[in-house]
Amino acid sequence: MEVSAIEVPEDAETVLMFYVNGKKVVESKPEPEWTLLWYLRKKLYLTGTKYGCGEGGCGACTVMVSQYLRAEDRIKHIAVNACLTPVCAMHGLAVTTVEGISTTQDRLHPVQERLAKAHGSQCGFCTPGIVMSMYVLLRNKERINYFDMDKALQGNLCRCTGYRPIIEAFKTFGEAWKRNYVDEKGNNSCAMGEDCCQNKNISENNKNAVPNKSIFVPNDSSQEPIFPPDLKLNKYYSESYLTFKGKNIVWIRPRKLEDLLLLKYKYPNGKIIVGNTEIGVEMKFKKMKFPILLSPTMIPEMNICSVTHEGITIGAAVSLNDIHCFINTQLGHDNTKERIFDAIVDMLNWFAGNQVRNVASLVGNIVTASPISDLNPILMACSAVLNVYSFDRGHKKLIIDKDFFVGYRNTLLNDNDIIVSVEIPFTSNHHFFKAYKQSRRRDDDISIVTAAFSVKFVNEVVSEAMLCFGGMGPATVCATNSCYSLKGCCWDKNMLNLMMDSLTSELKLDTSVPGGMAAYRKSLCLSLFYKFYLHVLSNLTSVDGYNPINDYDQLSSKNILISEPKSSQYFDIKNNVINISDSVGKPIPHVSAMKHVAGEAIYCDDIPHTEGELYLTLILSTESHARIKSIDASRALSVSGVEMFLSSADLDDECNKMGPLIKDEQVFYKDIVFSRSCVIGAVIAKSETTARKAKDLVSVTYDRIQPVIVTLEDAIMHKSFFPGSPTRLKKGDLQDVFSNSLHIIESHVRTGSQEHFYLETISAYAVRREDELEIICNSQAPAEIARIVSEVLRIPNHKVVCKVKRIGGGFGGKESRVMTLAVPVAIAAYKLNKPVRAVLDRDEDMQISGNRHPFLIKYKVAFSDDGKIVGAAFDMYCNGGHSMDLSSALILRSVTHIDNCYFIPNIEVNAYICKTNIPSNTAFRGFGAPQVMFAAESMIRDVAVYLNKTYEEIAMLNMYGESDMTHYNQSLNYCTLSRCWNECIQTSTYWKRKIETNEFNRTNRWKKKGIALVPTKYGISFQSDVLMQAGALLLVYNDGSVLLTIGGVEMGQGLFTKMIQVASRELELDINKIHISEMSTDKVPNSSPTAGSISSDLYGMAVIDACSILKVRLEPYKSKTPNGKWEDWVMAAYLDRVNLTATGYYAASKIDFDFNTNSGNLYEYFTYGAACSEVIIDCLTGDHQVLRSDIVMDLGESINPAIDIGQIEGAFMQGYGFFTMEEMLFSPTGEVLSKGPGTYKIPGFSDIPKEFNVSLLKGAPNPRAVYSSKAVGEPPLFLAASVFFAIKDAIASARTDAGVSPEFVLDAPATCSRIRMACEDRFTEQVKPTIKGSGEQWNVVA
Ligand SMILES: Cc1cc2nc3c(=O)[nH]c(=O)nc-3n(C[C@H](O)[C@H](O)[C@H](O)COP(=O)(O)OP(=O)(O)OC[C@H]3O[C@@H](n4cnc5c(N)ncnc54)[C@H](O)[C@@H]3O)c2cc1C
Ligand code: FES
Ligand code: FES
Repeated sequence: MEVSAIEVPEDAETVLMFYVNGKKVVESKPEPEWTLLWYLRKKLYLTGTKYGCGEGGCGACTVMVSQYLRAEDRIKHIAVNACLTPVCAMHGLAVTTVEGISTTQDRLHPVQERLAKAHGSQCGFCTPGIVMSMYVLLRNKERINYFDMDKALQGNLCRCTGYRPIIEAFKTFGEAWKRNYVDEKGNNSCAMGEDCCQNKNISENNKNAVPNKSIFVPNDSSQEPIFPPDLKLNKYYSESYLTFKGKNIVWIRPRKLEDLLLLKYKYPNGKIIVGNTEIGVEMKFKKMKFPILLSPTMIPEMNICSVTHEGITIGAAVSLNDIHCFINTQLGHDNTKERIFDAIVDMLNWFAGNQVRNVASLVGNIVTASPISDLNPILMACSAVLNVYSFDRGHKKLIIDKDFFVGYRNTLLNDNDIIVSVEIPFTSNHHFFKAYKQSRRRDDDISIVTAAFSVKFVNEVVSEAMLCFGGMGPATVCATNSCYSLKGCCWDKNMLNLMMDSLTSELKLDTSVPGGMAAYRKSLCLSLFYKFYLHVLSNLTSVDGYNPINDYDQLSSKNILISEPKSSQYFDIKNNVINISDSVGKPIPHVSAMKHVAGEAIYCDDIPHTEGELYLTLILSTESHARIKSIDASRALSVSGVEMFLSSADLDDECNKMGPLIKDEQVFYKDIVFSRSCVIGAVIAKSETTARKAKDLVSVTYDRIQPVIVTLEDAIMHKSFFPGSPTRLKKGDLQDVFSNSLHIIESHVRTGSQEHFYLETISAYAVRREDELEIICNSQAPAEIARIVSEVLRIPNHKVVCKVKRIGGGFGGKESRVMTLAVPVAIAAYKLNKPVRAVLDRDEDMQISGNRHPFLIKYKVAFSDDGKIVGAAFDMYCNGGHSMDLSSALILRSVTHIDNCYFIPNIEVNAYICKTNIPSNTAFRGFGAPQVMFAAESMIRDVAVYLNKTYEEIAMLNMYGESDMTHYNQSLNYCTLSRCWNECIQTSTYWKRKIETNEFNRTNRWKKKGIALVPTKYGISFQSDVLMQAGALLLVYNDGSVLLTIGGVEMGQGLFTKMIQVASRELELDINKIHISEMSTDKVPNSSPTAGSISSDLYGMAVIDACSILKVRLEPYKSKTPNGKWEDWVMAAYLDRVNLTATGYYAASKIDFDFNTNSGNLYEYFTYGAACSEVIIDCLTGDHQVLRSDIVMDLGESINPAIDIGQIEGAFMQGYGFFTMEEMLFSPTGEVLSKGPGTYKIPGFSDIPKEFNVSLLKGAPNPRAVYSSKAVGEPPLFLAASVFFAIKDAIASARTDAGVSPEFVLDAPATCSRIRMACEDRFTEQVKPTIKGSGEQWNVVA
C-alpha cells in the first residue's frame, strides 16, 4: 500500500515534538526512517554522539532518554542506542546527549571529569557513549556498587584502554569507595583505616597511583538539569494519536488496543514496532522494507505487568529491563515458586547490553523466532501462554510448546495476530527449572547454544520434562524423545547415561550447519544437561529418597563467578625535573581527555556539513575471484539526486594503480576482481540516503574464476605465494645440527585473523579549491594519501593537502587501507568541484579493511639433554590476502622475531606470503611479530614437555642475556629481559600460586586452573632507513602561545601529549601554553606513517631540534631579563624582528642491515617485558576467566607513565582478544562473515583480569631514545599469550584427568569452542562420531 493512501484521523498529531538537552525540537516532516543518531548528528549537529556500528553492538551512540510516567508521577531515565532508536519514537520524551550534561566551558560533570583524570580515554571515540551509560546509572541510583556499574556498561566497547582505567574512574562513585577511601589528610570511615582494601592502590605500595583520587569534585545529584516541565504538564504528548507520514514509511501510534487491532486488520503489512532491535537491523542490513510501523507504547494492556494466582503476566511492549525490575521488586523471592523467574533474570544478565534491554521486548524476541533466541527456550520449557488478539478473530490463548516455532524465524502466529501479553507460570516444590547460555563472550553476545530444562517429580521419579534448546537447528527445539524417555526415571547416573545417549541421537547437526561448530554445539547440549543434573541433584533434598551431593560436584554445576576487579600500577616519577613547569615523566592526562569526555573532540565525520556537499558510497565486488563482464550504473544514475558514477573508465590505467609499497591494487577494479574488498566503482549523490539507495541499483555481472583461494592451506596446496617468497634467513649449520642431535621435535602452530575494530570506521572528506585539493581523513599515513591522490589525479603533491586532527583508533588498520576510500573521495571532489564526504558503515569497513595476518608456522627443533636449543628450522606462511599491501615489510619483522627471547645458535627461516582471495591483510599492532613469537613460546614448551621438565627451566636456560647475539647478528645491549622476568616471577608470587593451582586442579574435575609466564622482546625501528626521519614545525605567537605541528597523527596513543611534554621541557614552558592542532601535510611534508611504536622517539627528537633552534634565538632576550617571563622574551624578540618559527628535523642513525649477509644493525633498541597470567576454565563449556595478570615492562624512563601504562593495558587486552576470543569468520568462498560487533567479539568490560597489576621496571634508562624513554605501543601485546598458555595448562590438567595425553596442539585463538573440544572427555567423545559432513563447511579459518 502506498503511504499516501493511509488514512489519518482528523485529530491525529503529525508533528514530532521532543526535547534535546532541554531545548524543544519541532519536526513537521519527520521521516520514520531516521534514527535518533542520524537526527542528532546531521540535523541538530550534536556530533558528540558517535556512530560506531549502527547495530546496537558498541554503545558509542548511547544517549539518555527520559520519560514522565504520569501514573507513577516519576521520571524514568534510560540509556539507549541512538543508532537503533527511531526518531519518531521520541515524541513527548526528553533526550540528553553528552553535550547536554556539561561542556569544557562550564565545569565538567563528575562522570566526565573523573574519567578524564583517571586516563579513561585514549582515542576518545567510545568515550561519550561510556560517559552517558554511567551518567544514566547515576541519575537512577545514588548508591551504586560494582555490579551496577558492570551491568550499566555491558553494552559499551572500548578498543583502546583495556577498560581498567574506566572501571577505576567509575568505582569512585561506588558506595564502597566513598566509604573507605582515605583522602590525603587521612580522613576515612573504614575500621581498617589506611589498611582498608580500597586503599591498597593509593597507600603504602603505590604512592604514584593513577590517578590521585583526591582531585575529584564530588557528585551532586541536585545539580542535574531538570526534566522539561512542558512534557510533565501536558498530557497531550503521551495521549495523542500520532501519524508521521514519510516518503516511504508511515509511523502510527494509536491510543487504544481496538485502534491497533483495526489498523493491523486494515493494513496487514503493518509492523508492530517496540524496541526496534530486530526491525532496525532487518531494515538496515537485510534491506527489508516495512511501509507501516505501528507503535504500541501507549496501549495500556500491552504496557503493564501483573502477578496472578498462577504466575505473572507480562505486557507485550514492556522492556526486558522493566521485566527484570518487576520480577525483582514484585515477587516474594520464594525459591520454590519462582524458579522460572530466577532463570529469566539470570538469562537477562547475559542478554544483549543494557541499552538494548532498556528498549527490547520479550514479545519481540518471541515473534522474531530466532533459532538462537535466549528467551524462547525458557518460554517453551515452561509452556508460556500468549494472549493473542486480532480484529476479526478476537482473543485466543496460544501455548509456546514444541510446535510453536515452525521453522527459521517462523511461528504459528497469523499475519495479523497481535500478542498483547505473555503468561509465565510459577513452579511448585518438586519442579526444577534452570536455563543456560553459552556464547563467545560473556557480556552482550548472542548465544552459541541456549538450553532451558524443566523437570517435575512425583514420588521420587520424573513425572514431566521439557528439554529445550536454542542454537541446535533452524528454530528453538524441544528434545521430545528425550523428554519422553526421562519420564519415570529416578534422578541418578543411569538416567544421566540414558539422557546422554538420547540427546546425542536426537539433536542433529552436520558440518555445514550455519554458525559452524557442530561438534561443540552438540557437546554443549550434553554438558549443559550434566550441569542441570548436578543442579537438580543438589536441590533434591526436598524430594524424598535423595541425598545432597558433595561440594566437589556442586562446583562443577556452577558457572564461573564474576567478581569485582582490582588493579595496581607501579611506576617511578623521576626527580630529575629540569624546571618547575617540566612535565616530562609525570602521569598527566591525555591533552584531549577533557574534550573526549565532553563529546567536543572532533573526528573526521564531525566536520560540519557544507552547502552543496555530496556523499560517496563504494560499490564492492560480490565475488572473490572473477572477471567483470559488465558494469551498468544507468539505474543508479537515474535516481534523483545522484550526481556521478565513478569507475575505472574515469582513470587511465596508470592513474588507476595504487599501493603502499608496490602498486598492485587498483582504485577501481577493471577486468578482474581478486577479493570482495575490491572497489569497482562509487556513487556520488546529494545525500547519504540517496547514495546508498542508488548503490544497490548498480548492476555488475561476473564470470567466476577458479580457484578461489581462502585459507593458508589452500594457498600452500596451490603454491600461491607473492613474488619474493620465501624470505630466508640463515645462521649456522642446521643440517649438521639435525643429523647430530639426540632430541628433535617437529610441530606447528596456527593463528587466526584479527580485526582491528577501531571504534571510528574509515572516513574521508575532500574539498577542491581552485586547482588545490584538501583531504581530511582518518589515515595513519596522511602524507601517503596525499601522494597517491596527487599521482592518481596527476597534480603535484604541493597542491594536495591531507589533514588529520585525530583518529578514533587505528592499531595499524588505518596505515594503508584508508586509501581505498580517501582516494575515490578525493577524485570525486576534484572532478565535481564540490565537497565530498564518505564514512564506511561498520560492515563495509570490516569487508574492506583487512586484518591481522593469519599464520601457520611449522617448526623443527633440536636440543640437548638438558633442554638447550642447538638449532631450529621454521617454515612460516602468512595469509597476505589479495594484494601485497605491507606484507613484504611485515614478513621481515616476523622473520626477525621468531626467536622471541631465546638464543638459537643455528637457524633457518623460510617465510612465505600467501596470495589469497580475501581482503588484503595489513598492519596490526605487533606487525607480524606476535604470531611468530607465539611459535617460539610453543616450541620452548614442547621441549619442556618432551624432557619432562618445567617450561621455566627451559625458558631460563635459553633466554638471552646481555650482549648475546640474535639470529640476525644484532648484539643485545642494555638487555633487561631477565630483570623483567625475575621481577614478574617475584611480584606475581608465581611459584606459590603454581603450587596452589596444582592443588586446585587435583581436587576439581570440571573446573581447572592454569598459570603461565611469558617474556617478550620487541625490536624498535621501521627496518627501513628512509622511514626513520621526522619533522616538526614550531610556531611561537607574539602573545607567547606556541603551536606545534608534527608529522605524526594522534590516534589515542598520546603522541601529541608526549610531544607537548617534550616541548614544555625544552622551552621551560607550562604545557597549557603549547598546542598541537592537527597533522597537516602542508606544515610537515613527507612524513612516515604513524606506526611501529616509534613516533614518540622520532618526533620527540624533531621537537627537541625545533625547540633548541628557537631557544637560541630567544636566548639574548632571556639573558637581558633573566627574571622576566616567557611572554616578555617572545614579545621582545618579535619587536626585534626575530623569526619565531622553527622547523625541527631528526634522522635516526642508519639501519645497515643486510639480509643477504645477515649482518648489520636492524633495530634501534629493544623493549622488554614479562607477564604472568592465571585463568580458570570451565571444562564443560569452554568458558574461561582471567583471574590475575601481572606485567613488568622496561620502558626506560617513561615520558608519561600514565599514557604508557594505558598502552600496556590496552595492548594486553587487544592481545587477549587475539589469543582467546576474536575470530574472523570467512565462508569457503571468501566472504567475510564477521561483519560487525554482533558477529565479531572484542573483549568487553567483564573480560579484564580480575586482578591486573602493571609495573614499569625501575632504573633502566634507555640511551637510544628521547629522554631515555622507550617505545611502548606494540611490545606489550604479545604478553597476552600468557593467558593462552595458562588456558592450555588448565586444559592439560583436564585431559590428564580424562586419561588423554596432555600433549596436544591448540590453535589460537583459544575460543570457548576450542577449549571445550580440547578438554576431551566422555561427552565430546560421544558426540564427535555423530557429526556428519554434508556439503561445504559453513566457515573456514583463513
Ligand atoms: C545488539 C543486539 C544484541 C542482541 N542480543 C540478543 C541476545 O543476547 N539474545 C537474544 O535472544 N536476542 C538478542 N538480540 C535480539 C533482540 O534484541 C531481541 O530479539 C528483542 O527481544 C527484540 O525485541 P524488540 O522489542 O526490539 O523487537 P522489535 O524489533 O521491535 O520487533 C521484533 C519483531 O516482533 C514483532 N512484534 C513486536 N511486538 C509484537 C506484538 N505485540 N505482536 C506481534 N508482533 C510483535 C515485530 O513486528 C517484529 O517482527 C539482540 C539484538 C541486538 C541489536
Ligand atoms: S553505533 Fe550504536 S551501538 Fe554502535
Ligand atoms: S578510547 Fe575507547 S575506543 Fe578508543
